[in-house]
Amino acid sequence: MSKENLSSLKPLVALCKRRGFIYPGSEIYGGFANTYSYGPYGSELKRNISNLWWKTFVHKRTDIVGIDGPILLHPKTWEASGHLEGFSDALVDCKKCKMRYRADHLIENALSIDAEGKSEAELTKIILENKVKCPNCSANDFTDVRHFNLMFSTKMSKTSNNDDDVAYLRPETAQSIFLDYKNVVDSTRQKLPFGIAQIGKAFRNEITPGNFIFRVIEFEQMEIEYFIEEKSWQESFEDWLSSMKKWCDLIGLKQENLNVSEHAKEKLSHYSKRTVDIVYDFPFGTQELYGLAYRSDFDLSSHSKVSKHPLIWHDLENKLKFTPHVIEPTFGLDRSILAILCDAYEEEKLENNETRTVLRLSPKIAPVKLAVFPLMKKPELRELAKEIFSTLLDHFYCEYDESGAIGKRYRRQDELGTPYCVTIDYDSLEDNTVTVRERDSMQQIRMPKDQLISYFIDKINIS
Ligand code: GAP
Repeated sequence: MSKENLSSLKPLVALCKRRGFIYPGSEIYGGFANTYSYGPYGSELKRNISNLWWKTFVHKRTDIVGIDGPILLHPKTWEASGHLEGFSDALVDCKKCKMRYRADHLIENALSIDAEGKSEAELTKIILENKVKCPNCSANDFTDVRHFNLMFSTKMSKTSNNDDDVAYLRPETAQSIFLDYKNVVDSTRQKLPFGIAQIGKAFRNEITPGNFIFRVIEFEQMEIEYFIEEKSWQESFEDWLSSMKKWCDLIGLKQENLNVSEHAKEKLSHYSKRTVDIVYDFPFGTQELYGLAYRSDFDLSSHSKVSKHPLIWHDLENKLKFTPHVIEPTFGLDRSILAILCDAYEEEKLENNETRTVLRLSPKIAPVKLAVFPLMKKPELRELAKEIFSTLLDHFYCEYDESGAIGKRYRRQDELGTPYCVTIDYDSLEDNTVTVRERDSMQQIRMPKDQLISYFIDKINIS
C-alpha cells in the first residue's frame, strides 16, 4: 500500500464501485448495513484468490483434503463448540439515539485504552466514570453493557412454535470440518498428521465500525483443521506460521505491511492454547488479517462427548487410540481482498503531471489478465484484433475493447489491475507484430503475434 496515497479507504471504495469490484449490498433499497456484493471484477478477483488457495493448500499437498460442508449444522454443534455459551460481544446502547456499539470499541476510540476481554461490570464502570459520549449524538446516557450472541438464528419449521427447531448459520467453517472428521478418516487414506480444508460462508451478527469489507456479517473463510499428535503441536504451529507467511507473499502482499501478533494468554478464545494473528497495516489501523490457533483436542473431544460418537484416531501400528490435537490456520477471503486492494492501489504522478490510478495486482490473481485493442475502429484492425483476442481467450481471461482513445483504454485497464494490454495497429497488418504494454512500468515492446501465448504464459505464471 502506498500510504501517502491511501490514508483512508474512500478512494478505494469509490474505485471498487466505479469499476465493478464491490458494490454496497441492497443499494436500491437504501443499503443493508455491513453487506456487500462483488461485481464482475471483484468476483473474478475473489475466485482467483480462493482457487489459488485451494491449489496451494489442497492440490499441491498430499496431506490435506477438502470438503464442502453445510452452513446449517445440527444445533447441538454449537453447544459442543462453546459458541452458544461464549461467542458473544459486549454491547451497549445509547438511550437517546438508540445506536448500538461494541463496548470495547467505544472505549478504545474515546479513551485510547485497550478494553478487550473486560467484564460487563468493568466496561459499564469505565463508560460511566469517563463520561464517554455517543459518537452519533454526543449524549452520555448508555445502558449497562450486556453480552449478545453473535450467531444468526433461523427456524427449521419442522413443528410449529418449538424452540428446539432453532438452527444457527455457522459462524465459522471450522465446525463442519470437525463434524466430518470421522467420515473423512473412514473414506480416505489419510494418516496423521493430515488436514481437512474448506472454503465457505460464515455469518456473524457483528456491530461494525464500517471499515468497508473488513468486518461484515456474511463473509467467506478459507480454513484448515490440521490433525496432529499432541507432542508435535509446537513444530506444526511453526510450520503453519511459515506457510501462512509464504501465502501472503504468493498473493503479492508487501512484507512491510505485515506483522505477527501473539494473543495474550488471558485473551485466548475458549478453545485455544496459543493463537497468533497475522496483522496488516490497513489505512484505518493495524488489524487481524489471518489467525493461527492451537485448538488442542478441544473440538473433537467436545463433539465426541455431546454426540456420543468417538472422534478418535486408531494408530494400528502401535495399537493406540487417542484424540488428535488440532492446529488451525484460518484465512478470511474478504479480508484478503481488502488487504490486496489496499496494497495494490496507487495514485501515480506521471512525468506530464497527470495522475493515473493503478491497481498493481499480482498477475496470478488479477481479474483480467490481458486486454486486446485495435488502435482504431477500422474493419481491418478490428478483424485482426478479434482474431488475436479469441486465440488468447483460450488461455487467459481477456477483455476486448475498441471504444474511445487508446490512452483512456489503457487507464481503464490500469484501474482494473490488468497486467498487460495488446494493441493492434497498421504495422500489425504488414508484419504480424503487435504492441505489448506492461501495466506497472507502462513500457511498450513490439512482438510477433505468434509469440504472445508463450510470452504471457511465462509472465502471468498462473500455475
Ligand atoms: N475458526 C476460527 C475463526 O473463525 P476468527 O479469528 O474468528 O477465527 C478467522 O476468524 C478469520 O475470518 C479472521 O482472521 C478474518 O480474516 C475472518 N473474519 C472473521 N470475522 C470476520 C468478519 N466479520 N468479516 C470479515 N472477515 C472476518
